[in-house]
Amino acid sequence: MKRVAILISGGGSNMVRLAESMTGDHPARAVIVGSNDPAAGGLTKARDLGVDTFAVDHRPFGRDRAAFEAELIRNLDAARPDIIALAGFMRILTPDFVRHYSGRMLNIHPSLLPKYPGLHTHARAIEAGDAEAGASVHEVTADLDAGPILGQARVSILPDDDPASLAARVLIQEHRLYPAVLKRFAAGDRTRLDL
Ligand code: GRF
Repeated sequence: MKRVAILISGGGSNMVRLAESMTGDHPARAVIVGSNDPAAGGLTKARDLGVDTFAVDHRPFGRDRAAFEAELIRNLDAARPDIIALAGFMRILTPDFVRHYSGRMLNIHPSLLPKYPGLHTHARAIEAGDAEAGASVHEVTADLDAGPILGQARVSILPDDDPASLAARVLIQEHRLYPAVLKRFAAGDRTRLDL
């Protein structure tokens, strides 16, 4: 049974779907949910799901990313995770952190990578006049939002879409995609899933 740690920064809607998906004959279980924000709403949701939680507030660490990440790793490794799932985690991770979890860390990003790494993805897709938007689940490497893609889900961009309406439709697809990709990944299957 693979042990999965999930990192969040906010509401944790993806975390909830992931945790809820890991039941029955699923090869993994959520064992810990962590956040860089002690007030993250997702921490309460995780506890309601019976999953242990921790928070390491990144603000007292200032620019000392290494010290913040050392505390993050201490909390994570206490739960002996086999897989780390970043789900709405909004801190950029150093190559050292990525190396520590090399080959076993996933992230969901709200764009059809390699298009639109970084922030404001939906506004950029609308601005560019794209016909489609979506979400990508990828392995995390040292380059931001650039690791091997394990799955994508696509939505049409509608003429009257604004970033909020598009984000809401993409989020629905994220909630389908991430659990499906994690289940494969936990079973050792890295074949790409396109929904
Ligand atoms: C989602 O759009 C996700 O793609 C991005 O963070 C946003 C919020 O996710 N990574 P959640 O509701 O906190 O899971």
